[in-house]
Amino acid sequence: MNVAEAIDTRMSCRAYLDTPVPEATVRAILEGARRSPSGGNLQPWRVHVLTGVPLAELVAVVRARLPLNPRGETPEYDVYPPELWEPYRSRRFKCGEDLYATIGVAREDRLARLRQFARNYSFFGAPVGLFFFIDRGMGRPQWADLGMFMQSVMLLAREHGLDTCAQEAWSAWHQAVSEYLHVPPQFMLFAGMALGLRDPEAPINRLRTDRARLEEFATLRGF
Ligand SMILES: Cc1cc2nc3c(=O)[nH]c(=O)nc-3n(C[C@H](O)[C@H](O)[C@H](O)COP(=O)(O)O)c2cc1C
Repeated sequence: MNVAEAIDTRMSCRAYLDTPVPEATVRAILEGARRSPSGGNLQPWRVHVLTGVPLAELVAVVRARLPLNPRGETPEYDVYPPELWEPYRSRRFKCGEDLYATIGVAREDRLARLRQFARNYSFFGAPVGLFFFIDRGMGRPQWADLGMFMQSVMLLAREHGLDTCAQEAWSAWHQAVSEYLHVPPQFMLFAGMALGLRDPEAPINRLRTDRARLEEFATLRGF
């Protein structure tokens, strides 16, 4: 698989087979992602990877807390700016509509939407869950570095025939996650990520999200 194929076939996978991912594969993916660039080569990423019993335990901790607190804990950062403007607002809306359409959930059916959203907190059934942390002192440039690192993980996963879904949703449970993983307060949870074999039959995995045309985001001069 070349880079273009890895980029093209990566999609947010929201249903997995329960086939385990060998430790050697996870290590190979992380070893590869080590080569991601970062400003000043700070390599500001910290990753925790869970499978088996620890994964089930953490999922159970959050599942037990969800009914009392469906919105999660006090957020540490805004996943989106409070009032999204165009064209971002429409893109976000369409992405949600298209996602729920794949599983036949109507806009008005808030309960079904919540139920689907809550599947974030079981990593959509993936056998491996990753958590990406960053040192609290780091600024926006280092957050961008962390994003590049996550993309490397997602593309390398494709090379191993695996799929992923990056999950900011986990930031709503940063305390529970950090407590369970004994992560010192110096580190802040950015996102989780599901990793595993795609369930090819699952309707939700049929979603292919749109992208803006090149002319909408790129300006080329002097060619
Ligand atoms: C940093 C980041 C966080 C995301 N968080 C979530 C999430 O919490 N739950 C989810 O279902 N999808 C999440 N996504 C997936 C996006 O919705 C998805 O990337 C986008 O709609 C484009 O679709 P694609 O990944 O299938 O190409 C996240 C993606 C990124 C890059």
